[in-house]
Amino acid sequence: MKLHDLEFELYLKSDKIQEKVIELAKRINKDYRNISPLFVPILNGSFMFAGDLLKLIKLECLVSFIKVSSYSELESSGNLKQLIGVNEKIFGRDVIIIEDIIDSGKTMTELLEKFLELGPNSLEVVSLFRKEKAKQYDMNIKYIGFEIPNDFIVGYGLDYNGYGRNLKDIYKLKSDE
Ligand code: IMP
Ligand code: MG
Repeated sequence: MKLHDLEFELYLKSDKIQEKVIELAKRINKDYRNISPLFVPILNGSFMFAGDLLKLIKLECLVSFIKVSSYSELESSGNLKQLIGVNEKIFGRDVIIIEDIIDSGKTMTELLEKFLELGPNSLEVVSLFRKEKAKQYDMNIKYIGFEIPNDFIVGYGLDYNGYGRNLKDIYKLKSDE
């Protein structure tokens, strides 16, 4: 499959993703029983995952999307920009950040620092994917869908150069060999 200027191959079908989303939602519903959390999905990448996950959340909750951006093309630029749109009060709330993928781990490390400064009662992360190289950061990520190798992937919200977010399956970049 060609996307923009690169070749990608099927990596993970949507039914496998949906199974994992159900599993993650069940865990969150159980862990947050009697708690009214604030979900903070990180735009743009997590929009599809957040939509599917939140439909399965049975808790009384708030949802507030925010935007951060540090990625250009295939590599993280490493500069986390300001958070745009933390409207709901974080202070005293039980916050669950919804992320698509943790790659190097730099974005999430900085994000967690910023959120902690705002004084939440609790702070957890649900990420659909985590790459191998994120292990360099000692982060406590409570909910992880898939632990994956360091391949570049697209689809289900994830993009290459802005393309591919609409795909329902996940594709990975074809290697040269
Ligand atoms: P990190 O700071 O290196 O962990 O980068 C995290 C962000 O980069 C994620 O929130 C994604 O938006 C983006 N990203 C990381 N890996 C991929 C990938 O394989 N495909 C598409 N986007 C990615
Ligand atoms: Mg993202």
